[in-house]
Amino acid sequence: MKLLEVTNLSVTFETDDGIFKAVDDVSFHIETGEIVGLVGESGCGKSVTALSILRLIPSPPGRIEEGGILFHGKDVLRLDPREMRKIRGRGISMIFQEPSAALSPLHRIGRQMIENILFHQKISRKEARNISEKWLTAVKIADAGERMFAYPFQLSGGMQQRIMIAMALMLGPDLVIADEPTTALDVTIQAQVFELIREMRQKYSSILLITHDMGVIWEMCDRVIVMYASRIAEEGNLTDIFSKPAHPYTRGLLGSIPKLTGVPERLKTIHGQVPSPFQYSSGCHFRDRCPHAFDRCQAERPSLFDVGKGHRAACFLAEKGI
Ligand SMILES: Nc1ncnc2c1ncn2[C@@H]1O[C@H](COP(=O)(O)OP(=O)(O)OP(=O)(O)O)[C@@H](O)[C@H]1O
Ligand SMILES: [Mg+2]
Repeated sequence: MKLLEVTNLSVTFETDDGIFKAVDDVSFHIETGEIVGLVGESGCGKSVTALSILRLIPSPPGRIEEGGILFHGKDVLRLDPREMRKIRGRGISMIFQEPSAALSPLHRIGRQMIENILFHQKISRKEARNISEKWLTAVKIADAGERMFAYPFQLSGGMQQRIMIAMALMLGPDLVIADEPTTALDVTIQAQVFELIREMRQKYSSILLITHDMGVIWEMCDRVIVMYASRIAEEGNLTDIFSKPAHPYTRGLLGSIPKLTGVPERLKTIHGQVPSPFQYSSGCHFRDRCPHAFDRCQAERPSLFDVGKGHRAACFLAEKGI
């Protein structure tokens, strides 16, 4: 059985200007022990996909219109709120883009961690305190015992981010969703966080790692899902995506990896801009930026065509096997 299986997920938002689809017919799965990367430009629906898995889409304005989300074979979308709370943290945990999404400003760090552990585990307060301290030390927080008495606002952004990571990992979840977990951190701490995530995988968890950065994908992931403008553009294992990218958008993204020599190089950007969600239409969403677009791309939505084992691309050129 697959650890997570998302099928035909569609999510809309209702705004003053009308309804738009933020996630359109997205299907993918995660196996036990895998690190799957979800990559794509800003606004393409990565966070909305992730939040849907945990049923954290604010509704209204958001709505899961369609789709199934099976975790250990159970449909997450049908669970009652109590069962859902049990899954959050212990089954699936999330490292958010912003620490403020996970840390309450009103309570001390220690209390937040301890309460969280006690909600899921029948152990003493003292044991929960020890576990919290151990995890703060694991994310390289010095003087963990003392830091437990701090409020989030008394700590730097980098420290808050690491505390959130400790909270996401400390219950030993089966799946960690890490949404741009290192955006706010400097390079050295970024490297430490990725090291921690790698260790975590070896111990127990599968990881869905969301990023803009193909360099991070290359360093960290086993498999890759590329999203563009609310849909999956391509999916494949790491070598397929990097050595045989089948979607023109993936090729564009790969052209945008900075050289790893340390010498900054001008990024090769993809011509044009991501359409606004209100301009999404039938047909391929990438067509206006695509150097290969032809009539059919305007008229018809390309489905995900198989181009290899577990390698699929939503491009009519992939259908023809070119
Ligand atoms: N709460 C919300 N209300 C209205 N629109 C939203 C909400 N959350 C997300 N959206 C819209 O849904 C679309 C997808 O957003 P999402 O946050 O998933 O993008 P993303 O791929 O995570 O981008 P980024 O890389 O910038 O984090 C965007 O157009 C965004 O503006
Ligand atoms: Mg996001």
